[in-house]
Amino acid sequence: MGGNTIKMKKIVLFASGNGSNAEAIIRYFENQSIATVVAVFSNKPEAKVLERAKNHGIPSFVFTKTQLQETYVLDQLRLLQPDLIVLAGFLLQFPTTILKVFPNVINIHPALLPKYGGKGMYGMHVHQAVLDHKEIETGITIHYVNEQYDEGEFIFQKAVNIEECKTPEAIAQKVHELEHQYFPEVIGKLITNH
Ligand code: GAR
Repeated sequence: MGGNTIKMKKIVLFASGNGSNAEAIIRYFENQSIATVVAVFSNKPEAKVLERAKNHGIPSFVFTKTQLQETYVLDQLRLLQPDLIVLAGFLLQFPTTILKVFPNVINIHPALLPKYGGKGMYGMHVHQAVLDHKEIETGITIHYVNEQYDEGEFIFQKAVNIEECKTPEAIAQKVHELEHQYFPEVIGKLITNH
């Protein structure tokens, strides 16, 4: 990031589904002047996140897995020149080719990494595994993205007690509350400190 601190920083979001985190981030930055969400990228044409982006007047880009791995997504990012790329419920592996050009990429994971991370560990699969292992707490991890799933440097973690949760949905709800509360704020701090 770096550069002029007065200049509004540009955030690009990647999301594959509902987009409740994406919307929390969009709303948070609508209300202050350090950064703004300039685009939402999704690999799912039917994803609810696209409707959310539209409601906030934010341009969106839909792409295929091939377009992510080849040049389309990178070409769009080169035009947008984001200061920070945020994966908010993005379920494909983020390509190394893009990381080389835009290294400031962060992700949110719905568990306390290094537990319950890695390929195939996303959304409800994570919460089901946490329930199966009778964990008394779970949480969120915000981390830098590198070429390995869920293995980049940690930025922030927060735990929550789930002793009374009997279903993966109940755990998901607790985790979502944490995500909405902390993710936008952590992004804000990250952006201000660079
Ligand atoms: C979030 O809980 C996020 O942590 C998780 O997907 C959910 C998306 O919810 N991400 C992963 O599992 C990544 N491995 P949302 O679409 O409502 O923001």
